[in-house]
Amino acid sequence: MIGELDVARIRKDFPILERRVHDRPLVYLDSSNTSQKPRQVIDRVSEFYERHNANLYRGVYELSEEATAMFEDARARLAQFIGASDPGSVIFNRGTTESTNLVAHGYARKVLRPGDEILLTEMEHHSNLVPWQFAAQATGATLRFIPLAEDGTLDLSGLESLLTERTKLLGVSGMSNVLGTMPPLERLAAAAHAVGAVIVVDGAQLVPHATVDVQALDIDFLTISGHKMLGPTASGGLYGRRELLERMDPFLGGGEMILEVYPDRSTFKAPPWKFEAGTMNIAEEIGLAAAIEYLEELGMRAVRRHEQEITAYAIARLTEAGATVFGPRDVEQRGGAVSFWFKDIHPHDLAQILDQEGVCIRAGHHCAQPLMRVLGVPATARASFYIYNSNDEVDALVGALERAEAIFGA
Ligand SMILES: Cc1ncc(COP(=O)(O)O)c(C=O)c1O
Repeated sequence: MIGELDVARIRKDFPILERRVHDRPLVYLDSSNTSQKPRQVIDRVSEFYERHNANLYRGVYELSEEATAMFEDARARLAQFIGASDPGSVIFNRGTTESTNLVAHGYARKVLRPGDEILLTEMEHHSNLVPWQFAAQATGATLRFIPLAEDGTLDLSGLESLLTERTKLLGVSGMSNVLGTMPPLERLAAAAHAVGAVIVVDGAQLVPHATVDVQALDIDFLTISGHKMLGPTASGGLYGRRELLERMDPFLGGGEMILEVYPDRSTFKAPPWKFEAGTMNIAEEIGLAAAIEYLEELGMRAVRRHEQEITAYAIARLTEAGATVFGPRDVEQRGGAVSFWFKDIHPHDLAQILDQEGVCIRAGHHCAQPLMRVLGVPATARASFYIYNSNDEVDALVGALERAEAIFGA
């Protein structure tokens, strides 16, 4: 048991965790990248293909109606999971990158004018940076950045001068995939709204690991990566405040997103369908519903508590072993993506040696090159944790690091 989670029991639901890699037990510490999937999710996807597979909306037959009902039920579940009262405020797509691009294309390009500003932070994932660069280049808007403080939190001391009436959009990660940092979203949402800006929260890491209530936080847009929260790859989507979705232009055209089509123009369905062109990732979103049920059964409070405990343990053990750990120390202010630098061994070399021991970590810039420059490193090693990880696996990581040190004679 860690906290309220029975990790040993949970692990039994994840077939892949029984695997051996290089003849060692698999120690999977890369869930910030993508999480593993429990049997319940795998079975739900199989069941869909075995019993209900048909395309959505188009059919007037039983199978298509079943598929449509399951898909729309998944939407309602995801809406409820993030505290949205209206399932129609949830658009399904492949996850965070696609969602940010949708807002940048359908909203930002429409409302931004030369001289307007988009405010981001120095710790953003490229998915929450590059789409805004596109929008800024297309409209003449400018990007500005909230700096990072020494301790890995955001330095909000200059917020008043950064967030002004010129700011039309504030984009911020709810939980950094490099530092674990969790900014004060409620405060940032209120500050954005006070100057008439909208807030877009990159929820790729936050939604899998903590209770999120878009209404309580007063968030305008939230991106959701299903594949990081036990769901299939290419599941998830975008929450958007209804009136903003109504104003937004579609991003992709074609398929079932239309109302009427003439040779020279078309009209579109209401949100969310207006943003869902072509055949959707039906089985994936239905599998995501099973993932949400799984997480809800554990309870997101317990999920977060487990993450805080294992993160605190990992930070302590890594520091003892001589690693430099990046990001806040206080686990109240951070999640379980733990980036570190170990004894001047390049993170890629480290990850390769750890792989030989069956330990999967990520090494590189983690799609956050500007943040690497702020931290003054070319790359970091990153261990990240989820509900199926135990302190024993942290010990396995540290043991493997010590063996890497012996190999490199560091
Ligand atoms: C903070 C953050 N934002 C965005 C993404 C991209 O998410 P997706 O894979 O759903 O496009 C990731 C994935 O690593 C992430 O960690």
